[in-house]
Amino acid sequence: MSKAGKFITIEGTEGVGKSTNIAFITQWLSDKGIEIMHSREPGGTPLAEEIRELLLNKRDEQVDSRTELLLMFAARCQHVSQKIRPALDAGHWVLSDRFTDASYAYQGAGRELGFERLEELDDWSLQGFKPDLTIMLDLPIEIGLERAEQRGEKDRFESEQIEFFKRVRDGYLAIAKAEPERMKVIDATGSIKQVQQQIEKVLSEFYQVNSPAINKAEL
Ligand code: TMP
Repeated sequence: MSKAGKFITIEGTEGVGKSTNIAFITQWLSDKGIEIMHSREPGGTPLAEEIRELLLNKRDEQVDSRTELLLMFAARCQHVSQKIRPALDAGHWVLSDRFTDASYAYQGAGRELGFERLEELDDWSLQGFKPDLTIMLDLPIEIGLERAEQRGEKDRFESEQIEFFKRVRDGYLAIAKAEPERMKVIDATGSIKQVQQQIEKVLSEFYQVNSPAINKAEL
């Protein structure tokens, strides 16, 4: 199960600033000589991107929460086996815009399916595969939704009610509380500079332990 490369994910509710900070993380690592491969969920491979379309498109038919969850994991299995795992095995670092934590937060907490069932599905499909580091951008839902409003037409998730997103945020915070070593919560309410200072601190600590030079020295 050990990986040669490192796997970093970024998470958060709508409008927390994932894209801006993905660019910052990429640049920070690049300055350290690490070129990170980008991906996203749901998606990341041609088949998984097709599943993304199915999931995000608004439709008249009611989508059962379990259907939604299973499609998320179907896309994820494909993503991990065809893209993430081979990249990590080849020694690349990978940065994914969302991963399994999003299923716990959105389907487990948001759709109220609970974490327990999800753990079974997670164990069965990914066999313990987890990110090495997760950066969760945290923002009060009202502020995030206001920012997301300005982006134009809403997808099926963005069209949800505020109560749904509050449960999602609580779901993320519960994971961070249970796994503080892996999931780092960043207060995203401040200026971009303030947010990026916090991210830089997390990256520096992670890099100190995981830099390729250190890993080589250990061999
Ligand atoms: P985004 O990539 O634009 O953030 O949109 C993906 C949407 O899908 C977002 O609203 C969160 C949702 N989502 C889930 O509900 N469960 C999941 O497991 C993942 C990866 C995403």
